[in-house]
Amino acid sequence: MGGSVGLAIVGCAGSAARWNPQAVSVGEGGLVELELKDHPPLVTPGGLVALRPATLRKPVLVQRLEHEEVRVLSLRCPHLGCTVRWDDVAQLLVCPCHGSRFDDRGSVLEGPAKQALPVYRSEMSGSTIRFWVPEQ
Ligand code: FES
Repeated sequence: MGGSVGLAIVGCAGSAARWNPQAVSVGEGGLVELELKDHPPLVTPGGLVALRPATLRKPVLVQRLEHEEVRVLSLRCPHLGCTVRWDDVAQLLVCPCHGSRFDDRGSVLEGPAKQALPVYRSEMSGSTIRFWVPEQ
């Protein structure tokens, strides 16, 4: 799904210090539905928002890509489970606990994490974004 885009930070995404994921409800089958009007940064390719689905202990990062594509990454660090945050200066994801770094696709750039951030299935249709998270 989708290529890499330069992630321009808009709206509430901001720097790691201002990271404050908004809670979202999770429907049947782990479905999360978003309307673009409720998440303005996702209107423009390169925008992103952090959200906290009700069934997860850690937030996710929703990235608007080119065309009608999105990418949704878990922000649970695969090393020991800390919350990874977007650094809008470095344009990558950083774990505050032991310094692992990940690119915007979730791939490991620097350990100690050895695994990529999980990517959740997602789609965009018109003004609606859908993605599916575990129902734990
Ligand atoms: Fe993220 Fe250790 S928990 S690097």
